[in-house]
Order: sequence, then C-alpha cells, then structure tokens
Amino acid sequence: SGAVEKDLVEVLFTEKQILDRLGELAAEIERDYEGKDLVIVGVLRGAVMVMADLARALGRHVEMDWMAVSSYGSGTKSSGVVRILKDLDADITGRHVVIVDEIIDTGLTLSWLTSNLGSRGPASVEICTLLRKPEALQMPVDVKYVGWDIPNEFVVGYGLDYRERYRNLRDIGTLAPHVYS
Ligand code: PRP
Ligand code: MG
Repeated sequence: SGAVEKDLVEVLFTEKQILDRLGELAAEIERDYEGKDLVIVGVLRGAVMVMADLARALGRHVEMDWMAVSSYGSGTKSSGVVRILKDLDADITGRHVVIVDEIIDTGLTLSWLTSNLGSRGPASVEICTLLRKPEALQMPVDVKYVGWDIPNEFVVGYGLDYRERYRNLRDIGTLAPHVYS
C-alpha cells in the first residue's frame, strides 16, 4: 500500500516473484560462465533494479558497468536512431559481456547495443532481460536469458516508468486508467 502502489490496477509480478526468477537466471549465468571473466552491462536507467538484484544473486565475481543510450532520438521508436549518452568505462576486448535490461519492447535498443558492443572485440556478448514483449518486436534480438514474456501492455515498476514515475515500485504491474487522464 502507499501513494505509489495504489495507482497499479493489476500486479503482474511481485517483488518475491521477481527476485526468485532473477535467482534462477543468476544460477544459469553462473553455470554458463564458470571460470570465466564476466562483465555485466546495465542499460540506464530502467535496468538499475535488475542489475542490483541480479548482481547480488550471483555468487561470483562480476564487474558491473553501465551504458546510457537514447533510443528514440527524434521522438519516435521507429526512427532507428540510437545515440550513446554514456559509454562503458571498461575495455571489453577479449572479455565475456552480458547486457542487462529490464524490458525488450521493439528490440531496437538491445539489437543496436549488441552489435555496438560486439564490434569492440569481446569474447562474447549475450543479453539478459527481465521482460520481453514478443508481439512488439521489430528487430531480431537473440536473448540468452529472459525472465518472462509478457503481452503487449504498458507496464510500470521495478525500473519501468510512466513519465519518470513508478520506477521505484517493488512490483511490476499495469497502471490504473485514471493515471493517464
Ligand atoms: C526502455 C527500456 C529498454 C528499452 C526497450 O528504456 O528500459 O531499455 O526502452 O525498448 P525497445 O526494445 O523498444 O528499444 P528507455 O529508452 O525508455 O529509457 P529508460 O531506461 O531510461 O527508461
Ligand atoms: Mg532502458
């Protein structure tokens, strides 16, 4: 309850469900990268919560780095324009990289980021996303770790915003119609 949570009309994933699922993904990642150097790259700003919880679920050393990109430079998603607002601090040459985001919608952001990071000579580049909307996909994106596929509905919470609000919700859900009006 509280002033933030009451705007949700339906909770899709609770904090506990999210943490449990991230624990499963972390176990897969631990297995897949056993004995290998690993950098996880969070996509600012939505991925902050997933990065924090996934990294802490990993029982191994991992470097955490960040990128900020503006996907929709000219206002529309379909423009295909992606600009780097903040680049990696790390040199990923020869290293294993997992890009972490909280949602894949059209796929533009992660399709572009994967090829951008892939051109820097890493040992490998894979994607981990908490949510994916298969119906909204416009670009092919090869995702190795996915929490859940969801319908093409607008969701908020756990890093996902509506006009910069609701990112700090612990759960993920859909907004009540009165919020939009
Ligand atoms: C959102 C989300 C993903 C991206 C997914 O970020 O966090 O990064 O869009 O959409 P796509 O698959 O259609 O590219 P956004 O660019 O809105 O910025 P934010 O992370 O700061 O909220
Ligand atoms: Mg984002």
